[in-house]
Parts: sequence; structure tokens; C-alpha cells
Amino acid sequence: MDIVSLRKKFAELFVGGSSGELIEVHAPGRVNLIGEHTDYNDGFVCPMAIDRRMVILARRRNDGLVRLHSASSSQTVEFPVDRAVPKDGPAWALYPKGVAEILRQKKLITTGMDALATSDVPIGGGLSSSASFEVATAFALLAANNAQMDLVDLALACQWAEHNYPGMPCGIMDQFISAMGRKGYAMLLDCRDRSTRQVPLNDPNLRVVISNSNVKHELVMGEYTARRHQCETAVKLIKKKFPNVSSLRDADMDALEDSRLGMDPTVFRRARHVITEIERTIDFAAALEARDYAACGKLMYGSHLSLRDDYAVSCGELDALVEIARVVPGVYGARMTGGGFGGCIVALCTADAVATLTAKIESEYPKKTGKNATTFATVASEGAHIVK
Ligand code: GLA
Repeated sequence: MDIVSLRKKFAELFVGGSSGELIEVHAPGRVNLIGEHTDYNDGFVCPMAIDRRMVILARRRNDGLVRLHSASSSQTVEFPVDRAVPKDGPAWALYPKGVAEILRQKKLITTGMDALATSDVPIGGGLSSSASFEVATAFALLAANNAQMDLVDLALACQWAEHNYPGMPCGIMDQFISAMGRKGYAMLLDCRDRSTRQVPLNDPNLRVVISNSNVKHELVMGEYTARRHQCETAVKLIKKKFPNVSSLRDADMDALEDSRLGMDPTVFRRARHVITEIERTIDFAAALEARDYAACGKLMYGSHLSLRDDYAVSCGELDALVEIARVVPGVYGARMTGGGFGGCIVALCTADAVATLTAKIESEYPKKTGKNATTFATVASEGAHIVK
């Protein structure tokens, strides 16, 4: 929805109740280039913010009420911010409600807002539609309350919201990149000490292409939790011989091999994915900095295989998309991106290859899967901000 129609819709929805200036917040979705299922293992991730975003138009209210309309569901919810925010209502509203609750607990907000939310990040597509909603809500509520928050704290607050309201035990990657992405850069994030390195990604001959399998990752929460537990189990077993290992970040393949005896083979494979993926992510960032895209692509394919075979979070449709991309001239690499079980693949290719890649997916993917994919090129974009 363009901004003029959005303003019009806001005026129609909210007659009275709020006053003052309209606040316009943008918070992007993200694509993870590499470093999958490493964030909750203290590892590295390398995502970038994309040019698809959640937009919230908001206006301060003079009471403790939030009225929030979601354009995608055509529903409006109301909840208080001057007392505990109830965990009820439609599922989509749990994300902004969780954010409101944590900002309230931190005594950063007391007053509510009228707000209209709309997004072009595909829902359940693995491009962080949830995190962008959380981050946008935090920016809007803080602005309506004239409050400030450090961006690291804001990202952590949004993660708290996701853990405690919808109940998804996510890592920190999505909220960090939505809040702190930079135009023209991917971000190498150390999920242990939360330090970041901005890696230039603005070569005019390079493209980042996303293809959505249009399989919604609905089962993801249970599977995700199971993977987290398997990683914790691996750490417990490795610790027996290597007491200094407190997360898979601290382990290498030798330590894992040395701890193999008595380890469930599935747990072994899960840990192998995480340990090798952390290494691939560091190597990827270095290769991207050196503009060695062939090396980047190799690491991406390696990541996909590891996610498919060792971590078991891919699906036939994502595998099909990667296989289609693999044979297109000019494609350096491709892999599933995000939590898995559906959602998108990300490919790195030359500018010339985008049209062929898109056409190839359009013709081959339906034959292989009976479904249609949605393919688009994207660019490394700015993190969340208020539009003046
Ligand atoms: C989801 C989570 C992230 C991360 C990825 C997998 O997107 O929200 O924290 O764990 O899955 O890399």
C-alpha cells in the first residue's frame, strides 16, 4: 500500500482518540546469506536486511490503550499498556503485544497509540515477517512515548516478546538485523558477544535473489525446539571430555568426534551441522569481503547440504529450488534460508543471471513440485527507522 492510501486508511480507521503527528516506521525483513541455526549456539550469522518491510503508521494516544489494525488480516485489536498486556486475541497480535509488555515492564512506555500495520514481507516465508513486526512495533511505541532505547536492548526486547508471547524460542539474528541492518552491507554477527562487522554487499554486478517455495513453515516451532534440545544434549556430552565447552561454538570437529561414543547419531549430525556451519559463515564473510563470489557460492551449497542431511530442516521444494538454481550459468551458489521446513532459498548470482534464473524456476519448479514459486531480486537495505 502506498503511503497516501495508508494515511487515508488510517484516518478512516481511527476517528478521535489520538492526536498529534503521524509517526511512520519502517522495519525490514531479512534474508540470511549463511549461518543457519547457529545463533542459538553462540555462533556467527551473516544476514542482510531486504527491501521488503513492515510499515506502521502510528499516532500517540493520551491514555494507556493501543488500538492496532493489521491490513493483512483486516482485524483490529485493542490492548492496554498501563497494566499487563493479556496474551489473548488473534495469533498475529501476540508479536506486538509481547513487545508492548516488555517495554511496559521496562517502564519505557505508559501511553498507547493508534496504529495501522501493513507489510510486504511474505508471512511464514522465512524472511522474518515476525521480527520486522516486533521491531516496527517497538519503534512506534517508543516514538509515541518520546522514549529512547539502545538498539541492542531493543532487539533483545523483541526476542523476549517472541519467546514469551507467541512462544517461539528463536535466537537473536532476526531482530538484530531488522533493527541494525545497513544499506549496502551484510552483517556478520557474533551471537556470543553480539559484536557486528558490516560486510560490503554493493557490487553492481552481483545480485541476491530470493525464491519463495510458497510452502509455509507451519510445523517449525516444534521442530525448532527439538533442534535446540539436540544441540544442548550434544554440548552436555562433549563437556564430559572437554569441560570448557559451554556451547557448540566452543567445540570443533575433533572434540565432537572424540565424544561420539554413546552419542545418539542424530545428535551427532545436528552438532556437526552447527560446528561446520559456524566455520562456513566466518569463511563466507571473508570471501564476500574479498569479492570471491565463487568461494561464497561453494559455501552456500555446502550449507544447504548440511541443513538438508545433518540438520534435517529442508524439504523437497527447497531442495528442488536449489537444484534448479545450481545449473543456471552465473549462479554462484544457493541455499535454503531461515528456519526451514518451507519458506525461501537465497541465491547469489551475476546481474545478468537474474532473468534466466527466474525463468528457469518458473518453468522447472511447477514440474518438480506441482507448486509455483515467487522469485525476486533484493538489495541490502537499511534497518528499522522512522521516516521523517
Ligand atoms: C529462525 C529464528 C532465528 C534463527 C533461524 C535459523 O529464523 O528466528 O533466530 O535461529 O530460524 O537460523
